Amino acid sequence: MSSRQDPVGVFDSGVGGISALQAMMRLLPGERFIYYGDTVNAPYGTKSSEEVLSCVRIVVDRLLAQGIKALVIACNTATGAAAAPLRRELDIPVIGMEPALKPASEVRKDGKILVLATPLTLEQEKFRQLMDKYGEGAEKVPCPGLMELVEHDDTAASRAYLRDIFSRYDMDRVDAIVLGCTHYVFLKDMIREMVPPGIAITEGSEGTARQLRRVLQRNGLLAEGTEGGVTLQTSGSENDIRIMKRLLQVPLQ
Ligand code: DGL
Repeated sequence: MSSRQDPVGVFDSGVGGISALQAMMRLLPGERFIYYGDTVNAPYGTKSSEEVLSCVRIVVDRLLAQGIKALVIACNTATGAAAAPLRRELDIPVIGMEPALKPASEVRKDGKILVLATPLTLEQEKFRQLMDKYGEGAEKVPCPGLMELVEHDDTAASRAYLRDIFSRYDMDRVDAIVLGCTHYVFLKDMIREMVPPGIAITEGSEGTARQLRRVLQRNGLLAEGTEGGVTLQTSGSENDIRIMKRLLQVPLQ
């Protein structure tokens, strides 16, 4: 049986999920989090769903062994590949992420919505269903290789990558850009500078944090009277932990 004082497990293929972690720590300052970056197996987004699911199972076992009371999949790609089986198998709540297409569709006028995500996210059945509901005017923009640039903090190469993408569209006819990968959230300010000011940029970190609060509340699992915090873990190296620590300090909104 889980208790209120147990930690919340959060994971991603690397450092991207730190963007969602920041939102969760802001909204739920009394919670203890364990963040796990599966850097050794990154990227997930160019693997098959089956490969991602087997990587995820190993990560989840490591988090379960530490007594987590809830699991947040801070990765759009892994949510599509693993959320359904994990929900069937685990007896703790599982919170996933999906590209923030719904809020983008709400602000769309008559222009396009560009959905930037990993190739696997955009191929998955889960995303197809999302497109059926909210995809009017939306274009899939797979970005293989972009998460690696965020992992390596390569600002110049990220800018060149994005410039190439945006050069394929008439950006004056774009109403919204969806950052459908938690890594891309760290490029939000850069993107804002590169595109016309009226374009909305949507992403799922705040929504995920609110969903976590709702689920903990509903299950009587909100931490009480404790000091929150985070433990950072990785399948990779000490250097990955350093990058995570640095990104945790980057103010995002
Ligand atoms: N950060 C992940 C996501 O939100 C995926 C990056 C990757 O491993 O390809 O989809």
